[in-house]
Parts: sequence; structure tokens; C-alpha cells
Amino acid sequence: MRHFTSITQLPDLKAALEEAKYVKQNPFADQELGKNKTLLMVFFNNSLRTRLSTQKAALNLGMNVIVLDVNQGAWKLETERGVIMDGDKSEHLLEAIPVMGSYCDVIGVRSFAQFASKEDDYNEVIINQFIKYSGKPVFSMEAATRHPLQTFADLITIEEYKTKEKPKVVLTWAPHPKALPQAVPNSFAEGLLMTDYEFVIANPEGYDLAPEFTKGATITHNQDEALRGADFVYAKNWSAYEGDNYGKVLNQDRNWTITSEKMALTDNAFFMHCLPVRRNMIVSDDVIESPQSLVIPEAANRVVSAQTILKEILKSL
Ligand code: CP
Repeated sequence: MRHFTSITQLPDLKAALEEAKYVKQNPFADQELGKNKTLLMVFFNNSLRTRLSTQKAALNLGMNVIVLDVNQGAWKLETERGVIMDGDKSEHLLEAIPVMGSYCDVIGVRSFAQFASKEDDYNEVIINQFIKYSGKPVFSMEAATRHPLQTFADLITIEEYKTKEKPKVVLTWAPHPKALPQAVPNSFAEGLLMTDYEFVIANPEGYDLAPEFTKGATITHNQDEALRGADFVYAKNWSAYEGDNYGKVLNQDRNWTITSEKMALTDNAFFMHCLPVRRNMIVSDDVIESPQSLVIPEAANRVVSAQTILKEILKSL
């Protein structure tokens, strides 16, 4: 595997989950693989977990790590070709990318949806330019439409905690004051549809995700109905995808907040969220602090996820 931008690029999900188990138990077994190899992590957007877990994963593999926050200390980058650069952007991505590629062996990129153009976001124009012009393997640290390292960590976590062969997993929209991308839910749906679990997506009308990510899932606008009998509840906010509402917040309906009353509808489900989370918007204090909350082990598995993927990429060099 050279590039990793979608969980669907894993040739065999079951084998990848087995490999993740090995990596978790033997975190320093592959130090030679990354020796004298440099990972460059490029952030166009903020991060806590991805930044730290991916760096830790690379260090476990014996790699050197360079981190670039594009918006803090680098030249402001133009991303559109053909623009007369007479504004505040001093450098074009088309020069910056190959330069970055010349300093490293592998590149991780975080570049969220910008909501200016649905077409640009869903064509993944930023990360695809890194793939095209860097000359190096590129992996997503959350791009416009997917967050595959998060999804892989989520799948690792469900595998660890499931008590049934085919658990019922519910992805539910929950309210948030700001417009958030669809990357995490898109990617989670894509990953869950690679499993044989029962998978249900619950969201208010107007918040249906892009069908290319959800084809095959049960989709309902009734959260209570979805939660009945659930083994895992994965809460997440996302902005609207459909039509002219793309990138908009249509409502902040607190009836969709995950509370203990909502969790009582489930089969003693585990609660999951990728973090960061807005308490008492997405989830109540008591649910996130309950013994059924997996948010901390889920975040810890981000190291395992990143290390398993980086290991595969290093093997391809
Ligand atoms: N879940 C996640 O990607 O967290 P960060 O945005 O903090 O990296």
C-alpha cells in the first residue's frame, strides 16, 4: 500500500485488524523499518489526537518526524491554479508540495473540507495534489471527505469491546453549534459497510450523507428507533450535504443529544465519539463519564491505527 486516503484501500480488513492487534502488543518490534526514514506531517487545520498519535506511531517505528503547521509560520499558500498572486498568498502549493516531498520519505496531510465548493471538497483537491506532486507516499490525517485513520481506530476499538459476533452499531447525528465536515461519518460508514455488523445511521431530515458512502446502510430519521437494541452508539455531528444546503447547520436540535435516557433504549451499548466533543450538545456529562464510554481507549487506539498503516507504507518504500 503506497497511499492511504480511504479505509477501502486496505486490501483485507480482517488481516489489517489482526495486524493492528500485533502492533498493539509489540509496539517496538519494527524499529528498523523506519530507521533513517522521515515522516512529514502537514497540518492545514488544528489537531490534538492525530498530531500526537501519528507522531508517536512514527517514533515507535523508528522514524524521524517533522511537523509543519501551514497556517502558523509557513508562507500563506495559494491552492488554485491560474490565480494572479497579487494578494496575501506568497507561495503556490504546486511549488510547496514537491519541496516538502524532497525533505521526507512519507507525508501525512490534514486538510478539512472548506465548504466553498462541494465539488472541490468531494474531489479532494488538496490531498490529491500532494499525491500527484510530492513524489512520496501520502496518507490522510483527515481530508475533506474521509478520516480513515480515525475509522480504523474505531474498528479496532469495536473489535476489542464487542461481545457479539455481529453487534448492532448506530452512527447518530448529534447537535453542534458550528458547521462540521462530513469526513468522520462518511469514513465511519464506509468502514462499517466493510464489516458484517448490523449498521444503522440516524440523522434528522436534511442531514443525509452522500450516498456513495452509505449505500447498503439502514438510514432512519428516527433516533430512538435506531438506538433500540444497539451495542455501540457512535455519535457525531455533521453539516448538511444535500443540494444548496451543503456545509450548513440546519438545526441544533438538542432532542438528538445522547443522554442516559437515550442510552437506556440500547442493549447497554458502548458510547463512542472521535473527539473533540462538545459536552451537553453531542453527549451528556453522565454518558461520556460512564463505564460504557469508550472515548479514551478509542483515542488511544489512534496510535495503533497510525502505526499499522505507517508500517504498511514503510514496507512499500
Ligand atoms: N479525532 C481527531 O482526529 O482528533 P484531532 O482533531 O484532535 O486530531
